[in-house]
Amino acid sequence: MLDETDPRVTAAAEICASHAYDPAELIEILHELQDREGYIAEETLPAIAQLLNISRAEVHGVVSFYHDFRREPAGKVVVKICRAESCQSMGASKLIARICERYNTDLGTTSRAGVTIEQVFCLGLCAQSPAAMLNGRFIGHATEEGLDTAIVEALS
Ligand code: FES
Repeated sequence: MLDETDPRVTAAAEICASHAYDPAELIEILHELQDREGYIAEETLPAIAQLLNISRAEVHGVVSFYHDFRREPAGKVVVKICRAESCQSMGASKLIARICERYNTDLGTTSRAGVTIEQVFCLGLCAQSPAAMLNGRFIGHATEEGLDTAIVEALS
């Protein structure tokens, strides 16, 4: 029985219906749900499993496996830092560590200030490594100071 009083469950149901309840489209369904709701709420997982006639473990496994899926609402500012080969060779790990430290948060979580820091694997901006994206805006040759300035501006 779906909890139709929960708008997140209703959204999941609408998206599943638009994909004809096809379990092969689970990843696309989850992406659409995240685009619409901002994250994949725990409460939607049983509903999706029921609607697609697959196990909860299967839905949970996909959500857990893919780093793209957010399990909690993001902050006002979402910073994605590339960690693929080119960016990694240009200091991406150090940059991530410094930004996380500066905002007193961990990868994939949201700081008190409302900053969510996530890792991604190639933004298609390899020639400008290390690359980042801040609320959908690309930032090439990212530095700790440059990212911090952009974050502060986006928070204000
Ligand atoms: S490797 Fe980082 S943008 Fe491609």
